[in-house]
Amino acid sequence: MAGQRKLYAEIKDGILDKTWEEAASSAWILAEISNVNHYQNDAPEYQKFADRLSADAVSLARILEKKEQPAALEAAAKIGQTCSACHDKFKKE
Ligand code: HEC
Repeated sequence: MAGQRKLYAEIKDGILDKTWEEAASSAWILAEISNVNHYQNDAPEYQKFADRLSADAVSLARILEKKEQPAALEAAAKIGQTCSACHDKFKKE
């Protein structure tokens, strides 16, 4: 999970610094990691959050490849909401 934080930070920095290729590659990795995260819990709601994050990371990767900064910021914020939504429900402490 610390890996997701690292990737998410790289993506946000990349959008601001306009290092589009690196940010896009972090977004593709985030999508793949989230596919794996799906299997870390049997709860359907957990899996739905993981699936949504993965799909949104794919969309974000495509936006980053097109170097669209405002759309990328919006898509990254949407991903951040899914991180929080899953944590609110499933993360202890
Ligand atoms: C599908 C659910 C889910 C999603 C989506 C999710 N997380 Fe988590 N996250 C957890 C759970 C559950 C924990 C509690 C520790 C554990 O079980 O690994 C956690 C813990 C963490 C931690 C605490 C450190 C650690 O390794 O335990 C960080 C940092 C973190 N998540 C970052 C993120 C970021 C950034 C995102 C979005 C890009 C994200 N997470 C998306 C479920 C999720």
